Amino acid sequence: MTTTTFSDISIYCPPLQEPRVKCKMEKPIIGKCSDQHWFAILISFLLCFIFLCFDYSAFLGPNNGVASLVNKQANSLVIMKNKTKNLVSQNPSRDNTKEMKSNSDSCSGRYIYIHNLPSRFNYDLLKNCLSLTRGTDSNMCKYMVNLGLGPEIKDPDGVLSNKSWFSTNQFLLEVIFHNRMKKYECLTNDSSLASAIFVPFYAGLDVSLVLWNSNIKVRDSSGLDLVQWLVKKPQWKKMWGRDHFLVAGRISWDFRRQFGNESYWGSNFRFLPESYNMSMLSVESSAWKNDFAIPYPTNFHPSKDTEIYQWQSKIRGKTRKHLFTFAGAPRPELENSIRAKVIDQCRASSACKFIDCSSSGGNNCENPVNILRVFQSSVFCLQPPGDSYTRRSIFDSILSGCIPVFFHPGTAYSQYQWFLPKNRTKYSVYIPVRNVKEWDVNVEKVLLGISKEEESAMREEVIRLIPKIIYSDPRSKLESSEDAFDIAVKSVLERVEKVRNVIREGGDPSVGFADPDHYKYTFSDNYS
Ligand SMILES: *[C@@H]1O[C@H](CO)[C@@H](O)[C@H](O)[C@H]1NC(C)=O
Ligand SMILES: *[C@@H]1O[C@H](CO)[C@@H](O)[C@H](O)[C@H]1NC(C)=O
Ligand SMILES: *[C@@H]1O[C@H](CO)[C@@H](O)[C@H](O)[C@H]1NC(C)=O
Ligand SMILES: *[C@@H]1O[C@H](CO)[C@@H](O)[C@H](O)[C@H]1NC(C)=O
Ligand SMILES: *[C@@H]1O[C@H](CO)[C@@H](O)[C@H](O)[C@H]1NC(C)=O
Ligand SMILES: *[C@@H]1O[C@H](CO)[C@@H](O)[C@H](O)[C@H]1NC(C)=O
Repeated sequence: MTTTTFSDISIYCPPLQEPRVKCKMEKPIIGKCSDQHWFAILISFLLCFIFLCFDYSAFLGPNNGVASLVNKQANSLVIMKNKTKNLVSQNPSRDNTKEMKSNSDSCSGRYIYIHNLPSRFNYDLLKNCLSLTRGTDSNMCKYMVNLGLGPEIKDPDGVLSNKSWFSTNQFLLEVIFHNRMKKYECLTNDSSLASAIFVPFYAGLDVSLVLWNSNIKVRDSSGLDLVQWLVKKPQWKKMWGRDHFLVAGRISWDFRRQFGNESYWGSNFRFLPESYNMSMLSVESSAWKNDFAIPYPTNFHPSKDTEIYQWQSKIRGKTRKHLFTFAGAPRPELENSIRAKVIDQCRASSACKFIDCSSSGGNNCENPVNILRVFQSSVFCLQPPGDSYTRRSIFDSILSGCIPVFFHPGTAYSQYQWFLPKNRTKYSVYIPVRNVKEWDVNVEKVLLGISKEEESAMREEVIRLIPKIIYSDPRSKLESSEDAFDIAVKSVLERVEKVRNVIREGGDPSVGFADPDHYKYTFSDNYS
């Protein structure tokens, strides 16, 4: 067992900053990936957007507009009943809270307080959904229906199960999460009882309005506005924000601009001193310790346990006629990338099914039914990194019972640690790429070398993971399965509790949080 550090493997640049070129970063936080001109970055991002980020977003369904969602959400949940209570002390110890809790309180240690943010930080973004459409090639408004799940999918061929499939846009994860949180069973209006504080800032939607703005003051302004609002609240003083968390449907690099120069990608939100103290859950985390990865939303949002069981048994019974599959867009200009090699090998093999997601290839990935149909009839699904480490496709693959094949630890193993088994060989195949130029692995050969017994054990594990990587419908509650939301919330609570204990024992509360001085840039993993 070794620890892979960023300095000994060649990795991709902070995604989207310079998506076209692979670079080696000694110290990624201050990595010099960019001597790029702004225009080049803009173009590459747009290309990336079309090819990767929007890989399989669906464009189905009617354009129902945003009105119904906004109305349903119009009134925020939480008001503070007794402000004085919240001003109690600077002492983060929760001894009082402990006494108040009785053993019979099943919510003990699980209470969450939702900040009642001004609507400019969340609901106004949904109302102004047309402005979110800029930079995407699709009208974002249509995805806002059904509490952010998107319009229901029509599936005349029966590829999916009967109910609970939606054209979900990944960027609305923050809306879906918020709507789930509003139904969380242990909400409290009394923040002195709360174990964690949820900040329903739609960080990704917000930054998407300004990511392309050449004025960094404009890019950074609403993040700054948010933290200035937060620190004035009594809830902040209790743990200096170390019990606060928020969710983003964008990769964390979008909030981690490396320098105060407009040529670098993103806002500086996560580098604000207040932001260091908060935890952020997003679809792709950085290696900073206050960033956590949660699954991309898929199209399946069941409202009952039985819908999950039926889906699991449906895909368990599928005949899988393709040994392996790759769905994605080629990047002709990236001839030395692993993606190009993977596509070449797939095209050259009769055992591989290639789904071309590029617009020149026919936009085959616009309809999620196309992807899920092929993934259901494939044994392995290749998941090479693209412009960023992660892909939504990982979760489509798991959802289809297709065993994922990874080429970089940052694609899943070091990301979704709350959700995926520690032992990667139980559910996936890892084909490491240390050096693309020298990489001469024959993927088909590797996959053929896996025995039928190993294969079906892996597939069974993948199918078992399904409930953990989906977000159930916020309008109902699963009876017994824990979904990605449940696991994320549980993990946040555990983490905050650990920090609280450190503080109580007089330790350094920045343990476990980003700290630029003590920061060790490693992906700790078990790859040999
Ligand atoms: C921003 O950085 C780029 C590359 O490092 C440099 O060429 C450019 O002059 C900088 N611009 C400003 C305004 O500092
Ligand atoms: C508010 O909290 C204070 C201090 O804990 C307490 O004395 C007061 O009775 C509370 N008021 C209400 C309305 O609960
Ligand atoms: C789908 O609906 C049909 C007709 O309502 C029913 O017969 C069938 O069992 C359902 N399938 C699943 C997987 O629920
Ligand atoms: C919090 O207060 C609001 C407004 O009074 C109320 O509607 C809601 O039910 C309360 N929530 C909890 C968890 O007590
Ligand atoms: C962050 O937390 C530390 C305590 O761990 C505190 O000293 C610092 O003031 C906090 N930062 C802000 C901006 O509140
Ligand atoms: C990981 O899983 C594989 C396959 O199930 C098993 O053979 C191996 O012993 C496991 N390794 C550890 C360290 O548990």
